[in-house]
Amino acid sequence: AADVFDYDLLTGRHVVITAGPTREPIDPVRYLTNKSSGKMGFALAAAAAEAGARVTLIAGPVVLDTPNRVERINVVRAEDMYQASLDAVEKGCDIFIATAAVADYRPTVTADHKIKKSTEEIHLTLVKNPDIIAAVADHANRPFTVGFAAETQDVIEYAQGKLKNKNLDMIATNDVSGTDVGFNSDNNALTVIWPNGHKVLPLASKTQIAKQLIELIAIRQG
Ligand code: CTP
Ligand code: CA
Repeated sequence: AADVFDYDLLTGRHVVITAGPTREPIDPVRYLTNKSSGKMGFALAAAAAEAGARVTLIAGPVVLDTPNRVERINVVRAEDMYQASLDAVEKGCDIFIATAAVADYRPTVTADHKIKKSTEEIHLTLVKNPDIIAAVADHANRPFTVGFAAETQDVIEYAQGKLKNKNLDMIATNDVSGTDVGFNSDNNALTVIWPNGHKVLPLASKTQIAKQLIELIAIRQG
């Protein structure tokens, strides 16, 4: 439990965490994005640092203070987050946790100038962004890889599918159809799944949940 948190649990380990949304520019003043406060990723970064890890936090555009002893890399687009993540894995890390709400698609072109209002309808063509966590899990220098899945229905089934298809070691999942969990909330409840087991982390503050998840990751990573 969090009250007996081991402050040496991750000493000597390098943990890389993605957090927040990404922002995909349409023109100089407009963008596509996802709903994400970044709070869960920042809480995990703080908990990992408290557990003695060296922590790199790859953050999309969020207004949150960088936790103590955490190295923060700010990114905007999914492609920038992909580059920063693969660079970190290339250099070597032990644990990769993807909490970011990455935009699945980006506009095929970004206009150089503000798009002016003209016709009643305009069409935006989108292209798929690279899957960051899948690329990390496929890397020759593969860290222990942990994903997140926020779902509004069939939560466990979708999460199990992602665990398998993306070749992850663990996935933390939450039901965001309710009101007091996930997203902008300060609380969260997670079901954590790995290839042959699972654990429920009941509703608690994101700080508490982060400590519990960090403990679980440290134990399973071995
Ligand atoms: N993820 C990622 N790169 C992407 C999309 C998702 O690294 N381009 C990561 C997220 O950070 C999360 C996990 O993959 O840890 C699951 O994200 P999610 O959006 O639930 O899954 P998708 O594979 O994008 O599937 P869908 O949105 O269709 O449910
Ligand atoms: Ca997605």
